[in-house]
Amino acid sequence: MTNVKARPADADREYKAAVRRAWAKGDYAAFANELIWEVGPVVVAAAGVRPGLRVLDVAAGTGNAAIRAAQAGAEVVASDLTPEHFAAGRQLARRHGVTLEWVEADAEALPFEDGEFDVVISCLGAIFAPNHRLVASELLRVCKRGGTIAMANFTPQGVAADFFAVFAPYMPPPRPGDESPMLWGREDHVRALLAPGLEWLELAPRWYVERAPSPAAYCELIKRTFGPVVAIYEDLADQPGATAALDEAFLEFAVRSNCGPVGGPAEYRYDYVLVVGKK
Ligand SMILES: C[S@@+](CC[C@H](N)C(=O)[O-])C[C@H]1O[C@@H](n2cnc3c(N)ncnc32)[C@H](O)[C@@H]1O
Repeated sequence: MTNVKARPADADREYKAAVRRAWAKGDYAAFANELIWEVGPVVVAAAGVRPGLRVLDVAAGTGNAAIRAAQAGAEVVASDLTPEHFAAGRQLARRHGVTLEWVEADAEALPFEDGEFDVVISCLGAIFAPNHRLVASELLRVCKRGGTIAMANFTPQGVAADFFAVFAPYMPPPRPGDESPMLWGREDHVRALLAPGLEWLELAPRWYVERAPSPAAYCELIKRTFGPVVAIYEDLADQPGATAALDEAFLEFAVRSNCGPVGGPAEYRYDYVLVVGKK
């Protein structure tokens, strides 16, 4: 774990604004509904969400986990750095017959009181904030004593890491001290961050499958819906050579990582670790 020094607030605000702009592109609701909708309820069930509990979903996107927590009867706050997701999230929540509160929030500085929530969850979300130590201390701070923290975190080995490696050369280099989201899938890293503030902590390997009619269709879906990828392609718009090279690398990844049946749809097995702790 890196001991990250505080950055000038303005520089951090600028960085976060750029991250937000990238996530706001595309159609995150379509991405989440089409590809990762099955992960939300796993996190909610692991956290033991039930009626009467107050739940915070950190980096909630369009409410994949938050909506399921509300369906389980909890009072839910869905928070995210990218409030552009909230209109689609509200619509989706309405379609599922629930109402949540939507709050713009950086996972590194949550605008909530100490111990405000019985349950704090994050589904493939808080891992994307680059200062893991700050994120962990915020998750612990807003969770009440006796409460539960549950996360789904991609693992450093597997399809998610390969996916992000395709796009890494086209993204701004990480700032000094920024940590990779994939570290949240390592047991030693998670224990160092969370265990000191918890009574107990358990990690269990899990996986889910993303599906598309073919590897090419998978690439097209991601290029249309997944904000950070949409942003990269937009930046390359006047560089046809670089765009073609990225297309080739992305399709090569999609063909190589396809574990679907021969002649059937393309399938991608994404490994993650399910983290559950009691404060
Ligand atoms: C892969 S999406 C996951 C969203 C949602 N949990 C789901 O399961 O669909 C990652 C989310 O992290 C959010 N995010 C990125 N950096 C963040 C930060 N520093 N604080 C809060 N949210 C952040 C993005 O806006 C995006 O909604």
